[in-house]
Amino acid sequence: MTGKKAQRLLIVSNRLPLRLVRKEGQWQLERGSGGLVTALAPVLRNRGGVWTGWPGVAAEDCPENLLELLNQAGQNLGYQIVPVALSRREQRLFYDGFSNEVIWPLFHEFPTLARFKPAYWVAYQQVNRKYAETVAAQSEPTQFIWVHDYHLMLVAEELRALGVNTYLAFFLHIPFPPLDMFLKIPWRLEILRGLLAFDLLGFQTARDRRNFLECLRALMPNVKWRGRGRVVVGRINGREVRIGDFPISIDYRSFVRRANSPEVLAVLATIRHRLPDRKILLGVDRLDYTKGIPHRLEAFRQALRTHADLHQKVTLVQIVVPSRTEVRQYRRLRAEIERLVGAINGEFTRPGWVPIHYVFRSLSPEELLGFYRAADIALVTPLKDGMNLIAKEFCVTNVDNNGVLILSEFAGAASQLQNGAILVNPFHIQEVAAAIYQACTMAITERKRHMKRLRQIIRKQDIYWWVDSFLRSAIAKDLSEFPQLEEYLPLSANPEPVRSSL
Ligand code: UDP
Ligand code: G6P
Repeated sequence: MTGKKAQRLLIVSNRLPLRLVRKEGQWQLERGSGGLVTALAPVLRNRGGVWTGWPGVAAEDCPENLLELLNQAGQNLGYQIVPVALSRREQRLFYDGFSNEVIWPLFHEFPTLARFKPAYWVAYQQVNRKYAETVAAQSEPTQFIWVHDYHLMLVAEELRALGVNTYLAFFLHIPFPPLDMFLKIPWRLEILRGLLAFDLLGFQTARDRRNFLECLRALMPNVKWRGRGRVVVGRINGREVRIGDFPISIDYRSFVRRANSPEVLAVLATIRHRLPDRKILLGVDRLDYTKGIPHRLEAFRQALRTHADLHQKVTLVQIVVPSRTEVRQYRRLRAEIERLVGAINGEFTRPGWVPIHYVFRSLSPEELLGFYRAADIALVTPLKDGMNLIAKEFCVTNVDNNGVLILSEFAGAASQLQNGAILVNPFHIQEVAAAIYQACTMAITERKRHMKRLRQIIRKQDIYWWVDSFLRSAIAKDLSEFPQLEEYLPLSANPEPVRSSL
C-alpha cells in the first residue's frame, strides 16, 4: 500500500450481504444471515466500495435479471455488488464439501466430522481461482482488496498468479485451530502457502494468531517472525507478511438507535404482554453443532430439575436459524434439538407454562432486537466460536443495563467480555445450570454494574475501531506504528472474571 490509504475498498467473501430467495414465484433479495454480513455491511456502507461474492443460489437457478436486481440493491446500499456464479456442483463440492465438511469442523475442533475427500479439495482450488478471476477483472491499481473467511484462503495466491500486485489482506472470521488439529488436513502446506500470499492476515483472538504462528513455525521453520505486540512480521520470498489479531465487532450506535425504534418497542411490548412475570432466557444461533445448543438445553433441564423455584417463573426462548441444510450433520442436529425440546417441555410443562419456546426460522432485524430487549438473560454457550456477535448484540441492545450475559469461555468474545459476563465451560452441564440459577437470582445493582461494563467495552471497540486497527496495521511503516497492545485489553480495573458460583 506504499504508506497511503487505499481509495476504494474491495471486499470479497463467499457470500454477498444479500441472498436470492424465491417467494410466491418472484425472486427477491433478502439480508444474508451470519456474523460476517452483520459486521461488514456497515463498513462498506460507511466507506463505499465493492462487495464481491455468491448470491446464495446455484448459477443454473438464478433469475435472468440477477445483475439488474443486484445493481438496484447496490444503489440503495451505497456500494457496488458483483456476483460470483457457482454451479450446483461447485456449491456441493466447494461450499458444502471443502468449506463446510473439512475446514469448518476441523477449525472448530470437531475432527471426527471432517470428510477429507480429494474432489472437495480440487473444487476448492477451482472456485478460489474463479473468485480471483472475478476480482482481477474489476480491480484498479489503487484498490485495497480484503478477502474474508475460510472459503477463500487461496484467493491471494491465485490473484498473484494473475499478475495482481495490489495490497491483499485477509481476515479469518472463525477460529484457527491448534497445530495437532491443523496437521490432520492432507493439504495443510498448500493452505499455509496460500495464506502467506496475502500481505496482512487478521485473526479474531490472540489464541488464533498464536495457533497460526505455531503451525507456520512447525511446517515452515525457515521463515522468521519478529515483533512482540499484536502484529508480527515475516519475510517470504522478499515480501513482507504481517499477522495480527483484531476482534471483530458490531455497529454500536446503530444497534442502540434501533433498540429504541417504534418497531422494536412494539415487538418488545408484545413479548412482554404474552409472557408476563417471567424471566426470559434467550438463545439465538444458526443451526450449527459448534453452537452447543443440545448442551445448553441439557443445562436448562438440569437447572429446572435442581431448582423447583424456577418453575413457572422462567422461559427459555431458543431461536434457531436454518443453515447449511445440505450438510448431513446439520440435519441430524435439528432432529436432536427438536427431540430434546420435546422431552424437556414434556417433563415440565404445566397449564399456562411451557418452559421452552422454540423458533426454527430466521427473524427480521426488528423481531431479533425485540427479543434481545425482552430477554433478562442471554445464553451464549458455543462449544467453539470465532467471535459470536450475538453476545455483543444482546449487550448493546440492552439499553436498560439490566440483562445478564452467560458466555462460553470458548467464544472469541470471551477475550473482551470476560469481565462482566458469567463465564462458563459449555461442556460442564452442572456449571451452566448453576450459572442459569445465579443469573436468575442476581441482584439488579450487580446486573447493572456488569452490563454497563460490557456495553462500555463494545462501545469503545466497535466495528469502526476494528476496521481502523486493521487498516492501520496495513499502512503502518514499521512495528512502532502498529496498534498497541493496551488498546485491546478489556477496559476494566477488575481483572477477575465472574465465574459461575457452582
Ligand atoms: N442473525 C440473522 N438472522 C436471524 C438471527 C440472527 O442474520 O434470524 C444474525 C445476528 O444478528 C448475528 C449473526 O446472525 O449478527 C450471528 O452471528 P454470530 O457471530 O453470533 O454467529 P455466526 O452465525 O456468524 O456463526
Ligand atoms: C459464519 C461464517 C461466515 C458465514 C456465516 C453463515 O459467520 O464465518 O463466513 O457466512 O457463518 O454461514 P453460511 O454458510 O450461511 O454463509
